[in-house]
Amino acid sequence: MERYTIEIPVQKFRLSELTDEERFWIDTAIISAKQAYAPYSQFYVGAVVVLENGILVTGNNQENIAYPSGMCAERVALYYAGARYPDVPVKAIVVIAVKDGIVQKHISPCGACRQVLLETEMRSNKPIRVLLAGSEEVHIINSAELLLPVSFKSF
Ligand code: THU
Repeated sequence: MERYTIEIPVQKFRLSELTDEERFWIDTAIISAKQAYAPYSQFYVGAVVVLENGILVTGNNQENIAYPSGMCAERVALYYAGARYPDVPVKAIVVIAVKDGIVQKHISPCGACRQVLLETEMRSNKPIRVLLAGSEEVHIINSAELLLPVSFKSF
């Protein structure tokens, strides 16, 4: 028997250490979070998908009285980007949460969103930078693959 450990490198930045462009993405994600439809959880999540051609695609969580019918912010943005710009690689995604009008500590995508991020990354074969943004810090993971180690691959 052999043991192995998988480590995930994460870079932690203060907001002041980011570029103006990255801060603009985060501000855009906050605006999007505030437009979420989240009457059941009151947890407002915003996502910004940054395309290689510079276009920003925003998304936010869309809940439903039949709870499983709801959708996370990340997948709303990723699926719209896939529908509207199928051939344009995704360069980065920003995720941020707002509760009671206040930007929260960074959150991390759920398993289903990680799976969709991975598929998006595999489609273009280019890494997607994942920016988990919070009120003071941003944690950055340099590819979606790192967020889903030991993933299912059928080919
Ligand atoms: N949610 C997201 O939109 N993205 C995440 O990364 C975590 C959770 C949503 C789903 C649900 O509408 C609400 O947040 C509470 O879980």
